[in-house]
Amino acid sequence: MKDQLSPHQQGLDRRQFMKAVSVAGIGLALSDLNLAQQARPRRRYAIVGTGARHTMYRDAILGRYKDYAELVALCDLNPGRLELSRQAAAASGAEVPGFVHTDFVRMIQQTRPDVVIVTTVDATHDQYIVLALENGCDVITEKPLTTTAQKCQRILDARRKTGGRIRVTFNYRYSPPRTQVKEILSSGQIGQILSVDFHWLLNTHHGADYFRRWHSQKASSGGLMVHKASHHFDLVNWWLSAVPVTVFATGKRDFYTPQMARRMGVEGPQQRCKTCKQKDRCGFYLDLAANPSLKALYLDQEHHDGYFRDQCVFRPQIDIEDTMNVIVHYDTGASLSYSLNAFNAWEGYVIAFNGTKGRLEHSIVEQIYISGTDSIQGGIAAGGVSTRIVPLRGAPKVIEPWTGVGSHGGGDQVMLDDIFLPEPPKDKYMRTSDERGGAWAALVGIAANLCFQTGQPVRIADLVSGLERPDYPPMPDWQEQVPMPPNTT
Ligand SMILES: NC(=O)c1ccc[n+]([C@@H]2O[C@H](COP(=O)([O-])OP(=O)(O)OC[C@H]3O[C@@H](n4cnc5c(N)ncnc54)[C@H](O)[C@@H]3O)[C@@H](O)[C@H]2O)c1
Repeated sequence: MKDQLSPHQQGLDRRQFMKAVSVAGIGLALSDLNLAQQARPRRRYAIVGTGARHTMYRDAILGRYKDYAELVALCDLNPGRLELSRQAAAASGAEVPGFVHTDFVRMIQQTRPDVVIVTTVDATHDQYIVLALENGCDVITEKPLTTTAQKCQRILDARRKTGGRIRVTFNYRYSPPRTQVKEILSSGQIGQILSVDFHWLLNTHHGADYFRRWHSQKASSGGLMVHKASHHFDLVNWWLSAVPVTVFATGKRDFYTPQMARRMGVEGPQQRCKTCKQKDRCGFYLDLAANPSLKALYLDQEHHDGYFRDQCVFRPQIDIEDTMNVIVHYDTGASLSYSLNAFNAWEGYVIAFNGTKGRLEHSIVEQIYISGTDSIQGGIAAGGVSTRIVPLRGAPKVIEPWTGVGSHGGGDQVMLDDIFLPEPPKDKYMRTSDERGGAWAALVGIAANLCFQTGQPVRIADLVSGLERPDYPPMPDWQEQVPMPPNTT
């Protein structure tokens, strides 16, 4: 067996190697997949939603994990995108039947998937999750779990009633530098975390792109508080091993507006880039026809459903915010001050955890990315990770970051191993999330949206009933005595 390990793994026995890759959050080498798993029937997967994101799951099933997974059906509202995906599967040697969305239940009955993967527009996740559970399947869903408290309750009730399993794919947890933050916080090095300052920045490429697509309508995405920030609220819940109790928030849209278009010297908003008369003067012009994958995925398919992927970022019909500030209190006593801003000079985040023994400061700069193109989503810029621990008194210690490659800071590949290997390495960070983790994250954003309307704080417990605490790794016992800082004066 040792002969089959790659050279840098020589010297580690199998158990040590599995533990090492799990701790470092590194994906398994292909040659090791066969070693790790026993021969067993392949799990049967169907995917609903054949847009940009589903390709990661489809290609994983048909490629790296083909010995353990089988793609039995594809489903979408748009027959053109559905056919594109079928053709891509066929090019990998798999003839996969396609079903329009109204035939979703028939798809399950005819193709008998074990698991349905949900990669549709956010506001439609609940209907497929519930139908899949009711028809005997487990579910893997993209974040956010859902977009409203009512839909969240439906999912929780269906889960309880059917006993089916739901997994929410929070890929950021798996990104090695974010896993490292969990490791540092769990080690107790900065003591009990009393507060967190977290600021996420979206640039005017990826950030602006939300204002062109279905994400720009709250009814479809829940706004950036749900669609985007549920990633971030999940990270905080998981980093702290805590659940949110109350939320207060303010939000506004000041940048992606008709007025701003005029202030930038164009006549005003148009319907879409394709027909815009001012494209030469607009720094936000997107030419779908110029990018082969955007053209194939969206421009060539718009006659089927009337969905324009290049709507004007300044149009008045947009109803999501671009500037948001949130205060959250957690059941551990910690508090969070969070902001999300969608028109920034760079993309990424800065976060500081303020503990009884010191402070953990961490930031990541992400690469420029546009969904549906070949650019790497959430890829980390060269030298873009910074992590340091600052004791209450004394010199800061710079931490060498754990590294990962590929999309979402290397998290996607590690997560795919966790999803598709029949016996994934045991994970001391407990990065797998179910509907409870998905709900606690989405509900912070849902509560923030309510605050935007009412100006009043929201208690998460008032939004849904029967939501249990997720399984998080234990944190150190915070009843311990706190060391007196040295008197350095
Ligand atoms: N975890 C991550 O980092 C990450 C990254 C990107 C997207 N996502 C999530 O993945 C999901 C898909 O996003 P995307 O970027 O692929 O969007 P997309 O617009 O490219 O694709 C969405 C697909 O859903 C289909 N669809 C819309 N309504 C439907 C319905 N009622 N029934 C069936 N199909 C329907 C559309 O036709 C389209 O093919 C979203 O939930 C998004 O939040 C997650």
